[in-house]
Amino acid sequence: MVETLKIEVERVAKSRLPQVDFSNLPFGKVYTDHMFMADFRNGEWGSPRIVPYGRMLISPATPALHYGQSIFEGLKAYRGTDREALVFRPMANFKRLNLSAERLCMALVPEELFTEGMRALLEIDRAWIPSTAGSALYLRPFLFSADEFIGIRPSLDFTFMIIASPVGAYYSAPVKVKIETHYTRAVAGGTGYAKAGGNYGGAIYPTKLAVDQGYQQLLWTDGKEHAYIEESGTMNVMFVFGDTLVTPALSDSILAGITRDSVLAIARREGMKVEERKVGVKELIDGLKSGLVKEAFGVGTAATIAPIQAIGHEGIDYPLPAASKQNFAAHIYTVLDEIKRGIAPDPFGWVVKM
Ligand code: COI
Repeated sequence: MVETLKIEVERVAKSRLPQVDFSNLPFGKVYTDHMFMADFRNGEWGSPRIVPYGRMLISPATPALHYGQSIFEGLKAYRGTDREALVFRPMANFKRLNLSAERLCMALVPEELFTEGMRALLEIDRAWIPSTAGSALYLRPFLFSADEFIGIRPSLDFTFMIIASPVGAYYSAPVKVKIETHYTRAVAGGTGYAKAGGNYGGAIYPTKLAVDQGYQQLLWTDGKEHAYIEESGTMNVMFVFGDTLVTPALSDSILAGITRDSVLAIARREGMKVEERKVGVKELIDGLKSGLVKEAFGVGTAATIAPIQAIGHEGIDYPLPAASKQNFAAHIYTVLDEIKRGIAPDPFGWVVKM
């Protein structure tokens, strides 16, 4: 455990903030002046510190590089009316980080380290929180093994860090996705439910093949039969079948997205019919052909609510009706966005001021 969380702070000599064009923020390319880090050594967490954002020295023999012992989270902070940081559901990310840590056999991160580290980073880099519509400060907590040992065994040393990046939309327009029926993202008993770096690394090649065919993302299917929709890699996926919001039920091969959970909670509160269940590829294609599927969209922290314009399957693209303001996706985007920004009441107690 961290005994007393005294965070050492080393400030940058000169902020890079004036060089940032906040009217044109890409996703994940600009980082704030500072980063938070702490080390797990000799069985305990210590040296919590804020240092200038920059390159680090790590051993070439660290298992994170060789065996992918690396996990991460993603969450967003918004600028409140009093310039405070409004952080969306950080405790959900904290819990999921440790769920991933357990699966990857890594040291658990104490709650105080996670929240106080985040608070300290937001305090020092507060001016980096964008206020423009569609933008936020993306926080990326991550944990990696830091041993100097290339034998395979549970690591002894770990480093926990938080970096922050002012971001715009991950997808700037409705996406075209392809149902993947050859490659597999995750299988029962695997690491699909964990936010393990390797899950994402392994998805890059099949996703690139789809991108080369004109899609932006895949709709991953189950690894056994490729008969059921799972998720979309950068986001969970939802459909409106008639008047019902349908999403694949969670399993150990699907990431339990926090945006997914938030959308379902709001939809249920609004009285919408919601089903978390298996979604068959055949059922989806039949629904797209018959018009029963009115909407499809991705839900994720980075992606927010990402309308899907077409779904490809076995060489045929099935278009969805054009995204409109009347759509559930547009409605839920606004409801969620207003809660996150502190514009609307937060009946779920999701927003944490830091
Ligand atoms: C997030 O939405 O925070 C994610 O982790 C997706 C990411 C791979 C960009």
